[in-house]
Amino acid sequence: MLADRDRIFTNLYGFQSPGLKAAQMRGAWDGTKHLLDRGKDWIISEMKASGLRGRGGAGFPTGLKWSFMPKPDPARPSYLVVNADESEPGTCKDREIMRNDPHLLVEGCMIASFAMGAHACYIYVRGEYIHERERLQAAVDEAYEAKLIGKDNVHGWPFDLYVHHGAGAYICGEETALLESLEGKKGMPRMKPPFPANMGLYGCPTTVNNVESIAVAPTILRRGASWFSSFGAPNNVGTKLFCVSGHVNTPCNVEEAMSIPFRELIDRHCGGIRGGWDNLLAVIPGGSSVRCVPAEQIIDCPMDFDSLSKLKSGLGTAAVIVMDKSTDIIRAIARLSYFYKHESCGQCTPCREGTGWMWRVMERMVEGRAQKREIDMLLDVSKQIEGHTICALGDAAAWPIQGLITHFRGEIEKRIDQYAANPHSDPVRIAAE
Ligand SMILES: Cc1cc2nc3c(=O)[nH]c(=O)nc-3n(C[C@H](O)[C@H](O)[C@H](O)COP(=O)(O)O)c2cc1C
Ligand code: SF4
Repeated sequence: MLADRDRIFTNLYGFQSPGLKAAQMRGAWDGTKHLLDRGKDWIISEMKASGLRGRGGAGFPTGLKWSFMPKPDPARPSYLVVNADESEPGTCKDREIMRNDPHLLVEGCMIASFAMGAHACYIYVRGEYIHERERLQAAVDEAYEAKLIGKDNVHGWPFDLYVHHGAGAYICGEETALLESLEGKKGMPRMKPPFPANMGLYGCPTTVNNVESIAVAPTILRRGASWFSSFGAPNNVGTKLFCVSGHVNTPCNVEEAMSIPFRELIDRHCGGIRGGWDNLLAVIPGGSSVRCVPAEQIIDCPMDFDSLSKLKSGLGTAAVIVMDKSTDIIRAIARLSYFYKHESCGQCTPCREGTGWMWRVMERMVEGRAQKREIDMLLDVSKQIEGHTICALGDAAAWPIQGLITHFRGEIEKRIDQYAANPHSDPVRIAAE
């Protein structure tokens, strides 16, 4: 178990004040100037050495991403954009950072911007996060007041930080849709390449990073890359915020060492599975966009990027959704299908048409009002969507269904048999339009 002295987010639960004084007592803004004095190259190489992989879902190495930013050019300013859209179902970690430890994020924005030659940073906050935006804005105001940031600050790097409030759309969490939205346009993903590092916000070099990725940076630099990389398994290092929800006795957000086995995570922090371990059915380990994993495969699995991808799932945002045997897994996945259909921006045909098609078939599968041959047809359609769209929302819609069919085909077939034996005409309960 991660020792308290190794936690980065020491006010995750808000027992202390989120304000500047209390944050400084906890170690925020400690020696920031000293870190900047060591130079951009040192910061980037230390971040690379730390092994930090992006906490927004894809797990791309953060230091490497920072190193992609081109050399500063007066004609084209560089920007850091922080993704605080946090709309992935099950995910609720960035909101705790913004509510309770916002100064770690503000300091991280300053350091990361300096390392990438950016004098301005935008934090794009999810529309529904009103309280979080207010807390974050208060921290930004305090930092300006104390001259920790601003045009003329004690660190000697002119730096402005803007908090931007989104309107509440899942797709605006996709980095290029986020940039479009920030520019005042409809939140629709852009084709890549060009990647944001070459052509991002207002056509200028931009790095988009998740809140957690940026908020952990100051502590990594203060305590050293080797400290951070001492946790977890090779290529999957560091401490990580897990958001555990569903059928555990005490759902929670918790910072733990990466690669902690699933059983240990649940027993230590969540009071075990509701009804005991024999009652576990399946887990969606990384937010709704990854494939579910059946109980017997996840119980001893290390919770990290590589181990979960070996199970054809993923760590994603580390939003661990636990389902016990009372769950109607077909209905649960059908509800996710509705979500993706609803959130599709409609730009590409496979996603626009396919998400609605899959959802409608899934609703029939919930009842059993389907043919068994449609199971393979559904799988086939999901594969025609996966990898054939502008952004990864198409994949995100396909993967939960693929996981369901891979692991619970028997359940779907049983439901179809039951319906065939006793067809009924009760209206299907479908998600509200
Ligand atoms: C549909 C969709 C929604 C996403 N939503 C979020 C989000 O809410 N927050 C986030 O940090 N990343 C989200 N991402 C991932 C971002 O595109 C991007 O990879 C991430 O912000 C990069 O940060 P990182 O390198 O620090 O992980 C989303 C991606 C997709 C395809
Ligand atoms: S995959 Fe879906 S959400 Fe992404 S750009 Fe295409 S239509 Fe829009």
